[in-house]
Amino acid sequence: MTDSHFKENRFFLKDSIRQQIDFSRTDQNRGLPPPPLQAPCPPEVVRVDLPDGRAALARLGRMAVGEAIARRESVRHFQATALTLEELAALLWATQGVRKVLSPISALRTVPSAGARHALETYLAVNRVEGLPAGLYRYLPFDGQLAQLAIDPQIGRRAAAACLGQRFVALAAVTLFWTSIPARMEWRYDLAAHKVIALDAGHVCQNLYLACESLGLGACAIAAYDQEACDQLLGVDGDEEFTLYLAPVGKR
Ligand SMILES: Cc1cc2nc3c(=O)[nH]c(=O)nc-3n(C[C@H](O)[C@H](O)[C@H](O)COP(=O)(O)O)c2cc1C
Repeated sequence: MTDSHFKENRFFLKDSIRQQIDFSRTDQNRGLPPPPLQAPCPPEVVRVDLPDGRAALARLGRMAVGEAIARRESVRHFQATALTLEELAALLWATQGVRKVLSPISALRTVPSAGARHALETYLAVNRVEGLPAGLYRYLPFDGQLAQLAIDPQIGRRAAAACLGQRFVALAAVTLFWTSIPARMEWRYDLAAHKVIALDAGHVCQNLYLACESLGLGACAIAAYDQEACDQLLGVDGDEEFTLYLAPVGKR
């Protein structure tokens, strides 16, 4: 790699781009409608009601936040036991749950997000969760539901293959995949959107780690994956929506 490649990529980490943007011309300031807060779900898709995630975490959580922070670690070995639907609901609420709807175009969640734009969606490769057939799901945080996208007993194996063969992914009870829909953030921040989307994803995964600690579960952040294979697995187009980050979860 040449120095100019490094310079180009390091530029992404800076906020210099902001000086080059005419914010009076952003989609938001031109009065264009933003993309929906939650990706639309076709009416024919089967939905599964989730238990209240906040109540589940309060009921099942075993430790104070300080202890969860002190104990947090990446876990790559999982028991073969299933997660309960209540445990899954707690994790989904901790990572992307809706805290307050401010208006039809703005809502606050359990994680911070630049401009409260929340440009992420959560897909789940469910291997072993009580009451859910193995397969691909998407979290619908505004409805407290899962959309059942595909029943697939091989989903764990396929997810591991899409993660460059990281085998522990196949053994997880569930793997959370976070995709980005950049247009949600670009609407407000134009070319300054992309770095903050990546920053947002970090908060989401950290909440997952801490909620897992509290519930006696384990997770491992994964950012080394086959982009096209993951996008294909999730059924996203790889352009307007694409895989950004993921984390397998299981019982410790
Ligand atoms: C952005 C990011 C990407 C990561 N990607 C992977 C990965 O692809 N595979 C993996 O096994 N661990 C991955 N990890 C986990 C790190 O290896 C782990 O956090 C690090 O070794 C420190 O260990 P700890 O989390 O137990 O403190 C990733 C962690 C982060 C934050």
